[in-house]
Formats: sequence, structure tokens, C-alpha cells
Amino acid sequence: MTMEHYILALDEGTTSCRAILFDERGCGIASAQQEFASVFPQAGWVEQDAEEIWRTQLQAMRDAASGVAVEQIRAIGITNQRETLVVWDRQTGEPLHPAIVWQCRRTSALCESLRAEGWEDEVRARTGLVLDPYFSGTKLKWLLDEVPGLREQAEQGRVLAGTIDCWLIWKLTDGAIHATDVSNASRTMLFNIHTLEWDADILAKLGIPAAMLPEVKPSSGIFGYTRLLGGAADGPGIPIAGVAGDQQAALFGQCCFDEGAAKNTYGTGCFLLKNTGDSPVASSKGLLTTIAWQLNGRTTYALEGSVFTAGSVVQWLRDGLGLIAHASDTEALAASVADTLGVYFVPAFTGLGTPYWNAEARGMITGLTRGTTSAHLVRAALESIAYQTADVLNTMTEESGLPLRELRVDGGAVANGLLMQFQADLLGVSVIRPVMLETTALGAAYLAGLGVGFWSGIDELRGLWALDRTFEPASDEAWRNQVYAGWQKAVGYQL
Ligand code: G3P
Repeated sequence: MTMEHYILALDEGTTSCRAILFDERGCGIASAQQEFASVFPQAGWVEQDAEEIWRTQLQAMRDAASGVAVEQIRAIGITNQRETLVVWDRQTGEPLHPAIVWQCRRTSALCESLRAEGWEDEVRARTGLVLDPYFSGTKLKWLLDEVPGLREQAEQGRVLAGTIDCWLIWKLTDGAIHATDVSNASRTMLFNIHTLEWDADILAKLGIPAAMLPEVKPSSGIFGYTRLLGGAADGPGIPIAGVAGDQQAALFGQCCFDEGAAKNTYGTGCFLLKNTGDSPVASSKGLLTTIAWQLNGRTTYALEGSVFTAGSVVQWLRDGLGLIAHASDTEALAASVADTLGVYFVPAFTGLGTPYWNAEARGMITGLTRGTTSAHLVRAALESIAYQTADVLNTMTEESGLPLRELRVDGGAVANGLLMQFQADLLGVSVIRPVMLETTALGAAYLAGLGVGFWSGIDELRGLWALDRTFEPASDEAWRNQVYAGWQKAVGYQL
């Protein structure tokens, strides 16, 4: 009997580390998850413990792989929360500061002063990004400026920096490999998406020594090997053969391989990416131009709309307000009322992304009356996720002049049927939910599997995508315009 082989995907998100073992049909046959903490040291600041991220990821990896022999795992794929930055000591491997999380707003003033100096257009032209604290570049400058001695150590080549994929690769290879992939690099605001190199002028402007930065590699192909799951003493270990930022991985996992194909992932935030093929399409309306992946020598680009707070609004209802016991309670509670009674919830906990790019905006609930109940609040919180997605989709349509006819969706919150139906109603487009909702991990597995020849190519992957349900819009334009105008008015109070 031949032995089954698998690809192990590590999915390091904003709130938890997961690991999923996929078979050759793209089905998850085992998975494990470990949550870890975020710390909020000041208003708008977000940090995580890089060692805790590593420990929880290692545990999840070992748990998910525990039922199979190490020889059955052909490759590991890594996908991760993007932009979050770690700095560590090259010799000891010790993190030199808590990881600064993508949501952290500590560099808003720094971004403002760069904008005042006229760097906004330069940054956009070279990196495809908006000058915003979201991205890693100003976080790294902040660390070099604020952590005593760090700049001197960095200049002596004693400090390494990287996004979470890079940190995990370094740990998995026992410090042998300091590398990242193009999709993650394209989120740092330090990477030139046209030349595919670290941008020397931006590094010089921010005072970042190039020696701190990782080697940038294609998203599919061998990054290094890990022995942390065991295996033959004389063998190299399991290859790490695919790496992509989580939103790009989800685009790949949804098989959005063709120009024009788009997906929206409902995770901690909400990220809508549209494949734009071989060309980086510039945006004038607040979309990001980003690298989707590099595969077989070809670089594929995407346009992205980023919403910072989506699933985390539901977490806040649970942990901040104690309004619900479980995230899944929201559907029944929201369905117990016909609408929000005019309540709008703007969950700008960490500012607003596309299309507003306002780092100083904060959360707000409007339209409260004596008749408002917890059910209305919960419904308004869910609807806020759909409204923010509508902001992004409308921006994409305005920018390209091409309305999207359907939207593929994934991520934890798409299990919520009420949210998906409201989303379809609000957008007036079909919302398509696949059977496999873990498309982020699946995308990383696909990239790794392609990297070792486990799958033959993207045509084979297309055949693995399967539909669960299509949510058709059941609304008229007048209703859409009316409710969306209410949302725009509410957001307007924060701008
Ligand atoms: O850019 C941030 C993004 O990568 C975070 O993703 O899945 O934690 O919402 P997620």
C-alpha cells in the first residue's frame, strides 16, 4: 500500500496560530489552533510577544502533524498576518522588542511628517502603498529611534528584522535562513514593487540599514528546511516551500488566478483583493497596489482594499462589552430584529483604511434611541462589516469602471448567513461561499505543494475549488442607496 502524502500549512493570524494538514484533494485532514495575546500599551497601540507567537505556532504545528509520520509531510507552507514587525538579535535569536502589530497606530505622527515633507507620492509610486502607520516601514524606524542602542547594534549587523513569516522561517530553520517572500515584502513600505528590490532611497530616508532586512524570494519554491517535526537524522528535514501574506494566500486559495478575479476575506479585518495580472495598477482612490505572488518566474499583482476592523468588532462585543458569549451568537441575536432601528456602528478602533486612510478616526455608534436593544447593536456591528466592504467594492468599481459581478468570500465570519445575505443585498452582487473556508491556509499549502511538485499546476488546483452556497441579492436599488447613505453619514462624523 502506498503511503498518503500531505502538505502542512501554518497560518499565523492576528489572534491565533493554526496549522492544517491538507491532502492532495485540498481537504483539511487534521488541524490545531492556539490563541495568543495582544497587548494595548497606549490608546491605539498594539503589540504581541514574538516568542509567544513562535511557541503557539510550534505547538499548533506539532499537534496538527501528530497523527501522521513525518515522511508523509511533503512540504510546509507559511501564511501570516502581514506588516507586523519583529526585530531580534542575530546571535541569540532573542526578540529585542515586542512585535509591533499591523493595527498599531504609534507612527501616525511620523507618517504625517513624511507626508509634510512630500513623501506620499514617492511612497505610492515605489511601493504601491499609502503612507500610513499600518505598514512595517515606519514601525521599524520607530524601533530604531526609540529602543536604546538598537540603531548602533543594527548598524553593526547584529539585528535582524522581518515580518512574521520571516520570523517563523528563521525559527523553523534554527536561525539558518533569514528570508521573506515578495507578497510580504510588498507590505513593508520598504520594497519597490517594480524593481522587486528593497528601495534604497526609502531605506535611506527612514535610516534603515539594509543588512537588517531579509532576502526576498518567490512565493513558491524552497526557502529552507525544518527538523522540528523530527525525521531521518541524515535527511535535510521538511522543506518550507511556499510563503505568502495571509490575504494574498487567500486569493490564491480561492483560485483567483485570472486577471479580474476577486475575493474578500472576513478575518480580524476584511481584505478585498482583485488580481490585476502582470501589471501593477496604480490607484488614485485609496486602494493599495500590492504583489499577489511570484510563481514560476512570473509576478502577479493585485489591487487591495483594507478594512482594519471586521471580525474583531464581534470579539469586542464578546470580550469588551460582554454582550454575547460566543461569536456565533451574533447571528440569532441579529436575526431577532428586522433592522438596526437606524443605529450605525463605525468600528474605527484603529483608524480607518480604504478609502478613508484616517489613522486618527475612532469607533462610534450613532442613532441610539430609547428603543435600541443589544440585538440592534449586535446587528449594527455585523452590518458594519458589510458596509466597510461596500466602501471598498464601490471604490474598486469607481476606479476601474468595471462592476464586479460576483464576490468570492472566505474567513471565519462567512459562516454567518445573515451577514452574507446582508452583504449580497447591500452590494447587489452574488456572494459566493466555497466549501473550504480556510482558504488562507489552503493558499499557503497550494504554494508549497506547487513548490515541490505535489500538485501539477494551477489548472489542477482550479478543479479542487467547490461551491457551498451562493447568496443572491434580494434588495432593490432604492433600499441600497438609503441604507448606504446612512452609513456614509455616520462615517462622515469621524473624518
Ligand atoms: O494586513 C493585515 C492582515 O494580514 C491581517 O489578517 O487574517 O488577521 O485579519 P487577519
